[in-house]
Amino acid sequence: METKVVATVPLPGAAPAYAVPGALGLVIFGASGDLTARKLLPALYTLAAQDLLPRCFSVVGVARSELGQDDFRQRMRAAVESFSRLGPVREEVWERLAGTIHYLSASVEDPQGARRLRDLLARVDRACGTEGNRLFYLATPPAAYAGIVRALGAAGLASGGDGRGWARIIIEKPFGRDLESARQLNRQVLEVFREPQVYRIDHYLGKETVQNILAFRFGNSIFEPLWNRRYVDHVQIAVAEDLGEEGRGDYYDQAGALRDMVQNHLLQLLSLVGMEPPASFEAEAIRDEKVKLLRAIRPIPPDAMAERTLRGQYTAGVIGGRPIRGYREVAGVAPDSTTETYVALRLTIDNWRWAGVSVYIRTGKALPTRVTEVTIQYREPPLLLFRHADHADHEGPDRLEPNRLSLRIQPDEGIALRFGLKPPGERIRLEPVVMDFGYGEGFGRESPEAYERLLLDAMRGDSTLFIRGDEVEAAWTLVTPILEAWEASNAKAVHPYPAGSWGPEAAEELIGQDARQWVRL
Ligand code: BG6
Repeated sequence: METKVVATVPLPGAAPAYAVPGALGLVIFGASGDLTARKLLPALYTLAAQDLLPRCFSVVGVARSELGQDDFRQRMRAAVESFSRLGPVREEVWERLAGTIHYLSASVEDPQGARRLRDLLARVDRACGTEGNRLFYLATPPAAYAGIVRALGAAGLASGGDGRGWARIIIEKPFGRDLESARQLNRQVLEVFREPQVYRIDHYLGKETVQNILAFRFGNSIFEPLWNRRYVDHVQIAVAEDLGEEGRGDYYDQAGALRDMVQNHLLQLLSLVGMEPPASFEAEAIRDEKVKLLRAIRPIPPDAMAERTLRGQYTAGVIGGRPIRGYREVAGVAPDSTTETYVALRLTIDNWRWAGVSVYIRTGKALPTRVTEVTIQYREPPLLLFRHADHADHEGPDRLEPNRLSLRIQPDEGIALRFGLKPPGERIRLEPVVMDFGYGEGFGRESPEAYERLLLDAMRGDSTLFIRGDEVEAAWTLVTPILEAWEASNAKAVHPYPAGSWGPEAAEELIGQDARQWVRL
């Protein structure tokens, strides 16, 4: 084991214990950017408030902006004030964290910048006792990744300092734009670091409810026997967002929903829902099974693109009483953009567990509400005993309502099982009822933010919740042919939908052609 565990600290409120990582220095590239302010510093602040940061710890922010150390700390304090989930900043916690923060104004791609960083880290090791352990975090635009990695290698920073420490690198999404660029980035990173040092982020894996997919499946004996083609009619995965793309038009218009959400978050959810039981709960065993599942998803053949893929783009509309401008009017978006803000796909999985079971996935911006949900819809009973009873008095539906298991990932996190029961009365008639578990009420405490968990895991050297190199390539292998087919077809194939609606009408046909419907979210 590389990591030294120095203490185990329970969170307030009978929380499960998280182990406190051993000494290390965290180096954030892109320290003046949005991710650092919105996610990383607030997560570090929460960890500090819970005494989960190492005793010997330092944060080194690196960016080109000419800022003094105090200016940088001031900015980071403002970020914590704006984005912390813990409410007003507690002075003693902030002071403790602020004391660990350093800033280096440098362009690390140039050799001199990398040398200055190396010298600073050596000084930090001596002053803070961080023992030559370094966790690098690439929070820059992706175009800078390869250059920074190369520079770290050239400056001798790809292994720990002081002749005894370790080095790890966290790489933010997007990891590549397509299969070819992802492979190239993997090669560039692996020329400098070894795979076990590389932590590719998908923040969905840091969400408690996403981790609970595995706990739910493999920690109980009642659901897994039904988790296969014999009992499951189909699976749906939906990630709906009620925001448009204000503020990020430049990035998003080059990406689109398939790259931004499907290649990573939705396929990650699918791999956890569909994978076989791992041989153990070790990182490699779990990731082996996820990769196997991704490789078993059948690539959509070119002649089936039209009926199995659908893309849409939102036009002006209203969400929750707020008027929303159309996507093409967003700053940074081309006025004739054909970038998709909505995607629906039908996928199939070629393995013994899932052969013949369709998986419908959809995600979109500017939909009526924010919700992420996985739905397992079970087959009908083999014989509809009660149908005749319904028909006899001409009441009730012609078919039974399907049994469904819903894993609500966010918000209102929970698990709901829907089945049919006879309401009191003389007649035999089935009505759907729901058994509902809510994480909030069930565990009586708030879940940590994804970035808190992921930072902690990377500090401790646990890569279970990070994406391995072969996994990211397997996901791009599925998505790239769709991107290419879409690029080759004409712009009319992008279906408009008003902001505040549930997406293009044609999405109903994508699932309707199989005589199924999207579940109501
Ligand atoms: C990010 C995407 O990865 O995930 C965003 O780039 C998206 O476009 C976000 O809004 C959704 O994350 P969450 O945690 O809010 O569901």
